[in-house]
Amino acid sequence: MATKKKASPKRAKAKAPALPKPVNGASVRAKHKEFLFPCVTNYYEEPIVLTKGEGSWCWDSDGREYLDLFGGILTLGVGHCHPEVVSRIEQQIKTLGHTSSLYATEPVVNVAEKLAKIAPGKLKKSFFTASGTEANETAILVAKLFTGKQEIIALRYGYSGRSLTALSLGGNSSWRLIPTQMVGVKHALSPYCYRCPLGLTYPSCEIKCAQDMDELIRTETNGQPAAFIAEPIAGVGGFITPPKEYFQIAVGIVRKYGGIFICDEVQTGFGRTGDKWFGIEHWGVEPDVMTMAKSIANGFSVGATMATEEVANAFTGLTISTFGGSPPTMASTNATLDVMRRENTPKRSAERGKQMRDALMAMYEKYQIIGDVRGMGLMQGIELVEDRKTKQPAPKAATRLMEAAKKQGLLIGKGGHYGNVIRMAPSMLISKTEMEDAMKRLDRALASM
Ligand SMILES: Cc1ncc(COP(=O)(O)O)c(C=O)c1O
Repeated sequence: MATKKKASPKRAKAKAPALPKPVNGASVRAKHKEFLFPCVTNYYEEPIVLTKGEGSWCWDSDGREYLDLFGGILTLGVGHCHPEVVSRIEQQIKTLGHTSSLYATEPVVNVAEKLAKIAPGKLKKSFFTASGTEANETAILVAKLFTGKQEIIALRYGYSGRSLTALSLGGNSSWRLIPTQMVGVKHALSPYCYRCPLGLTYPSCEIKCAQDMDELIRTETNGQPAAFIAEPIAGVGGFITPPKEYFQIAVGIVRKYGGIFICDEVQTGFGRTGDKWFGIEHWGVEPDVMTMAKSIANGFSVGATMATEEVANAFTGLTISTFGGSPPTMASTNATLDVMRRENTPKRSAERGKQMRDALMAMYEKYQIIGDVRGMGLMQGIELVEDRKTKQPAPKAATRLMEAAKKQGLLIGKGGHYGNVIRMAPSMLISKTEMEDAMKRLDRALASM
């Protein structure tokens, strides 16, 4: 049972907001099992039926409250049901609800202009879709059109989405439900320092994982890659944070062979990694193409592919996106970006991220099961192991910790190739008090195991 404690007086709301009508959790769980594909799995032995959200908090069908540190997979960048985002979507839906990409609208050009202002380097033009998967599909297509080349380099442990192209780009066998469908994808070594693929240690390793890109291109491709696609921090892979030199070396090699760099900012974008708008800015590399989704619209279905003018101009053939850039989703993006700029999410992520990291490091000292603490800003993960020396992954412990956290009224996420990494990425508007509260709940959950 999760806590039903009285809410802290520092909170915006004193108690669970009333529902328009009660929801029968047991019935929802039963129907979910009966009518949805079995692959639509839910977290927890008894899945939570969420009914309400507000800021960093949400409530289930039994009225239990939870502090949400996962935000629907790093998507609620400014929290559940942000009032400004909600009201601007409402206004837009009442005025103009759908157009398709065949008509120009003010909301879509406003978003494109705002993105061009905060995107790194020469990224300027945008193409809108309805998901991160489609954003990556578009990126691969434009890279092939621009370079006239076919082979794509992705990263081991990476994740790009769920279309056949995206599955082929993925670097985790458990997500690749069928063999590689897109020909010409090669997977480079992951900059996964905790489990270095070359058995080396940073910094004496001289970033050999990045240097290996040269041999990969010379031996695994025809020597003419179209693009290298990578996440600045591998999200689904378990918040794998590369050494600071990695991207400059790896991208430098790809460019030497004529390939371009596609940066997947689906998880790391919009201040999430602290101090910068985009994760890649920490690594000193300018992408030729960049993809975004998740927190771009605070929970509404938006995928965006940005490119430099030169690259974007190679995409001239016929294409449409029925839902891409639709007025309501663009209203939600415009509002989200305005809130993020006003609230300075990069700065907030850096501050609350430091608070979170310090608390996690204190837990690392206390609990042997934590093998590694990593991430940046408000994207922090802990990798659980059976033994700190052997680093044997502890996926069952991760499942137990998820359940224990649920009992403490705390939502956290899971990931990693072995399913043993706890991922935490709350609303970037989370308060200091809420973070303190969240870390206490996590500590109690770890202690209870
Ligand atoms: C880094 C990354 N890229 C792409 C995607 C795919 O996004 P979507 O689920 O919106 O299709 C995800 C989803 O988790 C992701 O984490």
